[in-house]
Amino acid sequence: MLSQNLVKEFAHDHDIYGLDINPGIYQAGSGVNVEVLNLNDASALKAYVEKIAPKALIHTAAYTNVDRAESESDLAFAVNAKVPAELAKICCEFAIPLIHISTDYVFNGTAGPYAEQDPRDPRGTYSESKYAGEMAVLDSSANAAVVRPNVMYGHGVDLKSSFVDWLIGELRQGNAVNIVDDQYNNPTYARRLATVTRDILDKSAWDIWHFGSKEVVSRYTFALKIADTFGLSSELINAISTVDLNQAAPRPMRSGLICDKLENELQFPIMSIGDELALLKEEMNVS
Ligand SMILES: NC(=O)c1ccc[n+]([C@@H]2O[C@H](COP(=O)([O-])OP(=O)(O)OC[C@H]3O[C@@H](n4cnc5c(N)ncnc54)[C@H](OP(=O)(O)O)[C@@H]3O)[C@@H](O)[C@H]2O)c1
Repeated sequence: MLSQNLVKEFAHDHDIYGLDINPGIYQAGSGVNVEVLNLNDASALKAYVEKIAPKALIHTAAYTNVDRAESESDLAFAVNAKVPAELAKICCEFAIPLIHISTDYVFNGTAGPYAEQDPRDPRGTYSESKYAGEMAVLDSSANAAVVRPNVMYGHGVDLKSSFVDWLIGELRQGNAVNIVDDQYNNPTYARRLATVTRDILDKSAWDIWHFGSKEVVSRYTFALKIADTFGLSSELINAISTVDLNQAAPRPMRSGLICDKLENELQFPIMSIGDELALLKEEMNVS
């Protein structure tokens, strides 16, 4: 999801070289050069970066199945911890700036919203693996920024896990949906996260940055806002509790990211969820 949005942000004035474990959506001749490569192949990764010699490297790939990570811990750590460590090493060696995408899951989610320097206390395998990944980047001497989104949503092609696309699809078909009303976040709009990433690179702002929307809301309230923006019936949206879902991995209940630093130091405006959803609707070309 984020990498497609980065393509939208950068393709008009940059050459883009991507790596993905599967072929993905970009065809030959599209101007976006994607090679299939498992990032865990450290020597192939290094050889590729050396060959391309990019001006910057943005690391968006991750093992993102939070529940499955509980039973695939080795794979989650290989992708989310070892790969960023390797990338940081490579970026040091070739003096390439690195943007690493982390997550609010590095916090325990009991007392959010969180500021960048708040103590981290990840819960569950996905969270621990992402925490190890951002630590490896921060402990390296690479020119690196760590950017933390939370509950990312956005537009793209063939996205596996876009909450907004899923919800719109269900409501359009008249299906009732159950949404938790006890998990709090300030969701991150992927298209603007791509612009934040550009800003950080342009300003060489090697630091930790939080990016989300202005208000912290429950997922249920977020769903109501989506229905309202896209002119869909909110009567089909039922509030449920997280325990009802019986998920394998714990979820941060009171999360959210304080984004004052981005706004004050990089002058990047933090917008309301309603305004960002309106931008998404425009992006999706929905009337
Ligand atoms: N989505 C959210 O709500 C959210 C919230 C907070 C933070 N984040 C972080 O934001 C970043 C971007 O998330 P996203 O939602 O854009 O993720 P995404 O759409 O799931 O994209 C991740 C990509 O990484 C690829 N990948 C996985 N393992 C790989 C490997 N070993 N080698 C090469 N590619 C590999 C995946 O391929 P396959 O799909 O084909 O396996 C997928 O294309 C991630 O770091 C994620 O942890 C996401």
